[in-house]
This record gives sequence, C-alpha cells and structure tokens, in this order.
Amino acid sequence: MEAMRRRPDEIAKMRKAGRVVAEMLAVTSEAARPGVTTAQLDRLARDVLERRGARSNFLNYHGYPAVICTSPNNVIVHGIPGDYTLAEGDIISIDCGAIIEGYHGDAAVTVPVGEVPPLTEKLLRVTQESLAAGISQLVPGNRLHDVGYAVQTVAEGAGFSVVRGYTGHAIGTRMHEDPSVPNYWPGTPGPALRTGMVFAIEPMVNIGGAETVELDDGWSVVTADGSLSAHFEHTIAVTEEGPEVLTVP
Ligand code: MF3
Ligand code: CO
Repeated sequence: MEAMRRRPDEIAKMRKAGRVVAEMLAVTSEAARPGVTTAQLDRLARDVLERRGARSNFLNYHGYPAVICTSPNNVIVHGIPGDYTLAEGDIISIDCGAIIEGYHGDAAVTVPVGEVPPLTEKLLRVTQESLAAGISQLVPGNRLHDVGYAVQTVAEGAGFSVVRGYTGHAIGTRMHEDPSVPNYWPGTPGPALRTGMVFAIEPMVNIGGAETVELDDGWSVVTADGSLSAHFEHTIAVTEEGPEVLTVP
C-alpha cells in the first residue's frame, strides 16, 4: 500500500499542526517534574490546543479520553493521563497530536524526571538516535523498509529490543493512514518513497525483551518483563531536498 502524496499547500497545513504539537511537547516535558500528575500534563496540553485554535486528534479516538498519552517507565505507549504522580528517577513518554485546518501532526518524546541512572540515559539517547536514523532514510528513491531497518540496527546494536506489535504510520487528513511503518525489517520490501508522502515514525525501544502486554484499561501497553521502555516520534515529509521534520517549533 502506497502512502498518499500531499500537495505543498497540504504540507504547509501539516507544518502548522506540527508546530502546535511541538509546543505541546515543550510545555508538557518542561512541566514533567517530581510531584506533577499526568492529568496535569494533559491539562497543559489542552491549554496549548485551545490557545492555538487546534483540535485534538487523540480525544475520543476509539473512545480515548485525553489529548495526550503519558507512558511512564515500563509503559511503552498509550498510557492514559490520570492521578499517576511523577517521581524522581522516572522516565515518561509524552505523545501529543493536533489538527489544524483538517491536517494532523503527531509526535512524542521520552524525558527523564530529575536524575536517572546511566543505563536509562542510554536508553533515551539510543531511542532518539534510532528515530534520527529512520528519518534520514526518508528520501525519494528509498523504500519504506529502509526506515525500520535503520531504526532496528541502531536499537539492537546498542543491546536493546524493538517493539513489534505497534508501528508508525502514514499521516495526513487522518492520524493513522496506510501504510504502517514498522521499526524493524518487515520481511518483505516496502513501497517506494516519493515526494509529498508524510509519515509518523515512532520507535519504541525496551531495555529488556520486545514482548508487550495490554493492560485492563484497554489502552496502556507495557513491557511483558517489566523493563523500561522509551518512545520518540516525529511527523516527517519526504521532499526533493530530503526529509522535512514537521513537528518542530
Ligand atoms: N499518537 C499515537 C500514535 O503515535 C496515537 C495515540 S492513540 C490515541 O499513533 F488514542 F491516544 F489517540
Ligand atoms: Co503516531
């Protein structure tokens, strides 16, 4: 399945949505300090959406109850904001999305809460580097599997594992469009990359095994072995000049 190709005026709207997402991430990750609840982070993200006249693509998505996902420690993705209180030494993935003029942005970071041990710092650094490696493959003429192969090489090369059950995705007038973007070699070559295609690349990397479990809340995905997990995501357009990250200030 080929991704849609977006016109320059569509990419311009996605750039605007991406700027709002970047602001949500900046505000919430700055606020992620010991003693703060994940519900408070959601409140801050709602304020940004309102201030920028943007809509939420997360709220009510298959019944999802918040505008961001907050996934601490062994929670990989899709943690629901609530009364969880951040503690010194935690890590937390904050995943934010916004819609401007019908076009979507989607991005995530994982941040340390106060000081974290060296291995945890390495997990954050390597996961971010794996995203950068994936993004660098988004050039016309490459194929989509080049992204996942690059992500996997970086993450496994550092001794970590890459989650299989959840993937990145094309994005545009819907948050999740076809095709999906695995963070690993999918076993068969992917479609060719062409200018105007836009993808959300989002490696999920675990210190321990790759296996996942979904919690009873119907959303939170955790590592089966309880190990720490990190998640970084950007929305990126394939352009003649190379990859353009849209979820930036
Ligand atoms: N942002 C997530 C993704 O990267 C989706 C969030 S799920 C939702 O695909 F339900 F919270 F919207
Ligand atoms: Co996404």
